[in-house]
Amino acid sequence: MSNTDNRTAQVDETGKLRHLLRLDGLSREFITALLDRAESFQTRVGEPPARDDALKGRTVANLFFEPSTRTRASFELAAKRLSADVLNLDVNMSSRTKGESLLDTIYTLQAMQVDIFVVRDASAGIPAYITQNAEPHVSVLNAGESDISHPTQGLLDLMTIREAKGTLDGLTVTVIGDIAHSRVARSISEGLRIMGNNELRLVSPTGLNGDSELYPGAQLTSDLDGAIEGADVVMALRIQKERIKEKSSLMTSMEYHQQFGLTEERLALAKPDAIVMHPGPMNRDVEISGPVADGPQSVVTQQVHNGVAVRMAVLAAVNEARST
Ligand code: CP
Repeated sequence: MSNTDNRTAQVDETGKLRHLLRLDGLSREFITALLDRAESFQTRVGEPPARDDALKGRTVANLFFEPSTRTRASFELAAKRLSADVLNLDVNMSSRTKGESLLDTIYTLQAMQVDIFVVRDASAGIPAYITQNAEPHVSVLNAGESDISHPTQGLLDLMTIREAKGTLDGLTVTVIGDIAHSRVARSISEGLRIMGNNELRLVSPTGLNGDSELYPGAQLTSDLDGAIEGADVVMALRIQKERIKEKSSLMTSMEYHQQFGLTEERLALAKPDAIVMHPGPMNRDVEISGPVADGPQSVVTQQVHNGVAVRMAVLAAVNEARST
């Protein structure tokens, strides 16, 4: 598909990444190359971070219309480590609070020579909408879109699993929590489907189950112990209260922890070398117990560490497309 007749196309006619809106549509080879590139940007905590001039002279704008710690900070660090000029728009102090439309905000920043927009928004379709209306040279990176997609989270999760397990094929991955409202679950499931023949088990309380049509091939269940048994990877998710209108139907935090919390006892049902993941932010002693979050099987901080490298790889990739 050519990006000249479809501005939302993620990959241009030469195979280069123009935008990153979701993982579906990318090939296994393409994702493998992105993960390899991310690995090339990795150094250990305590060592100087990797730096590169790839984005020198480019400007990256972070537009986060929903709260974020990890994604926003890591996109900022990633862009700076690639030598870009970085703008973090304070959306609460921006002219959108005076009624300016999203597109007028985009056109305003475009006029200031922003090249790459990193966008988080609570509404579905916003990243694609910007790609349809921005200048053709501009790239848009989805940093979290409603309950639809969080592709760089999906990539950093794949990177972390590959690092720990040495493969992205033939694994049993259990994701526990609010599947109904989770863009993290959507993106990791897309990624695992693309990368290999993995078994995905999605566990949630009744009322927070995922839509089976969105998760082809996955097992959707409320049987927590059965879903953890024999897993290679166990990921806990936060309840996305900000997306749930009828909060009175939710369990209390204590009830949730008792029924669906990832505890040491439950983790013991997984393979002995299973890894524990959480995209953050974590609610300790709700979806995950403190000892599990901090325990030897946890790779939660490694996920965060890999997030910077993944975002460097994605920024460098879209910049290459722009340069051609
Ligand atoms: N995982 C994640 O998206 O975290 P933040 O909301 O802190 O960016």
